[in-house]
Amino acid sequence: MFRFIHISDLHLSKISFGLSQFFSKRWIGTLNLIFSRKKKFHPKPLFSLIDVFAKKKADYLIVTGDLTSTSMKEEFQMANDLFTSIEDLGIKCYFLPGNHDHYTKGSYRTRRFYNFFSNPIEHPDLIISKYTLRHHCVEAHLLKDNFWLVMLDTAKATSLLSSRGYFTKEIEHNLLSLLALIPKEDKILLANHFPFAQQESIRKILVGGKRLQQIIKDNDQIKFYLHGHTHRHCLADLQPNSLPIVLDSGSSAHNQIGSFNYVTVEKNHIEVDIYKWQKENWQVESQKRIDLIK
Ligand SMILES: [Fe+2]
Repeated sequence: MFRFIHISDLHLSKISFGLSQFFSKRWIGTLNLIFSRKKKFHPKPLFSLIDVFAKKKADYLIVTGDLTSTSMKEEFQMANDLFTSIEDLGIKCYFLPGNHDHYTKGSYRTRRFYNFFSNPIEHPDLIISKYTLRHHCVEAHLLKDNFWLVMLDTAKATSLLSSRGYFTKEIEHNLLSLLALIPKEDKILLANHFPFAQQESIRKILVGGKRLQQIIKDNDQIKFYLHGHTHRHCLADLQPNSLPIVLDSGSSAHNQIGSFNYVTVEKNHIEVDIYKWQKENWQVESQKRIDLIK
């Protein structure tokens, strides 16, 4: 048995009026922050997580992207401070980037996200460890109970009004090569910033999502698909359709609809505590139990 917490879409922000922002996409991000995001996303729900996690321990914390708003160093540093406090509680944290973490061409080119958040490779002797998010956009970590956490980076710097993700042919090739290295009796928890389902507006979809969905359908080792990006909480058991259990944590920094998932994985079932940010506090809104189909 192991426990993991899933959070996403922190959107930590630092408003900048530096001249250089007018030569990048950041100026639109800054306007967005001033007029909209700053009210919606707040550090208080995020930093209140530390108290919740201190009382209700977990083995792992999985963060499915958009830690920042405009990929500024100061925003990454704020996120770093938060996760240092959480790791001090003995919770192992894993990170992957969202579109806001590769927000400008400069931050994407210099892979700024990875200068702050590279997941340590625990088993450098394994062939699978040659794949890293930074260089291959796929990465795998062995968790407890023969579960593997497989993570994807499908985010990239996009044009002004786009927040699309891209499951490219190269990422597809790397993912298939990596999945082939996982022992057939083991199980997989797949995490990405974007949902594979094409239900978002065309500006926000994962391009190539249908190809990713087919890979997931063809691989019965994949038991969970974790994502964020939508800011809407979701727990969907798609096992009857030969797909995994899909978890969207929602935005864990949202002032009105903040949420996250606390998941206990047993041998034959999972239990999910769904936390909602209500009246300036994190509260368990509901609990769900789902049987794992072999
Ligand atoms: Fe996003």
